[in-house]
Amino acid sequence: MSRFIEQTMTTLGVEELRTTGQSESGQPPVAVDRLAEGYPSGDPFGSLPAAGGRHILDARQFTREWLEEVLFPAALELQQTPLDRLPAPLAGKRLFYLFYESSTRTRVSFETAVALLGGSVAGMDSHEHRPRDERLEDRIQVLNQYPYDFILLRSHEEGGASRAASVSKVPVINAGDGDGQHPTQALLDAYTIWKELGRLDGLRVALVGDLSYERTTNSLAYLLARFRGLRVALVSPHLLRMRAEVRDHLAASGAVVEELRNLRAVAGQVDVVYMTRAHSTRLEHAQRFDKGAGCYGVDAEVLARLPAHALVLHPLPRGPELPAELDTDPRIACFRQAGNGLFVRMALLALLARTRQ
Ligand code: CP
Repeated sequence: MSRFIEQTMTTLGVEELRTTGQSESGQPPVAVDRLAEGYPSGDPFGSLPAAGGRHILDARQFTREWLEEVLFPAALELQQTPLDRLPAPLAGKRLFYLFYESSTRTRVSFETAVALLGGSVAGMDSHEHRPRDERLEDRIQVLNQYPYDFILLRSHEEGGASRAASVSKVPVINAGDGDGQHPTQALLDAYTIWKELGRLDGLRVALVGDLSYERTTNSLAYLLARFRGLRVALVSPHLLRMRAEVRDHLAASGAVVEELRNLRAVAGQVDVVYMTRAHSTRLEHAQRFDKGAGCYGVDAEVLARLPAHALVLHPLPRGPELPAELDTDPRIACFRQAGNGLFVRMALLALLARTRQ
């Protein structure tokens, strides 16, 4: 029996599965209890005061130890477990999703994660309500009157998740807040790199596209800043550069950061290319202010330059920056990446449920 499943069943009080704390190998388990250990402030994920201990708001709240020793192994164990043998750590738990913007991957993967782990889901999608009809804080306090254990919020405004968390009695999970962050996307992005390349230290990463309005690259940059020996190429038009506070955070972590406008110039030296969604009107407009044409998409020439082991990631949905005709190249990992999101979110929810007991 896997250690994660064993631990989770033990949490549920399944006595016959209780062990003496030793795994089958004789080693102490990689306890998911690590979540609750070592963070006496009550914040199981790291040290970001704004996260208030239980909310998932900002990629800066996660430590690399938690990523490498707790979350990623737990996600991998879940991914390697047949669906009919999954534990039910969310039995009796209820998640409410409140989405102010549409979503396929985030909403569906969270819904599926809860269902596979024995919990239940209800929610409101973006077409079911108008933001201006009611204050976000009021909606959250109303939801707190009903027996939900988690609120999954996609806000159209940066800071929306923090505002919700400031009044919520139950954990708020930021499913993307405007141009701000998308921390659980960064978790699955980093997990995909860890799983496929075996490490996050020492990588050469290109973040490509409209970096000033892109919450996924904000969160991924914050997460990458936890690792060592990184070289990060920020490939965008000058007008759409990554915002200074994120860029500076990355550089202050010790990463070598360079800004450029042509993906082809670095394609031969990167381990990971992280594409972002094309906002073509904005990109087209921004490029008018740059001298010479930039390159913000993957094409056959970029692929020809990429190392054989490299990964091309994309949070999806994609645009012309990652043509479907190239999907047969195994380095294009965007669908494996989306699939990994299910298991990362399962692990996150199971761990979050556990810390609340
Ligand atoms: N990657 C991502 O956030 O996709 P959705 O907008 O479909 O959730």
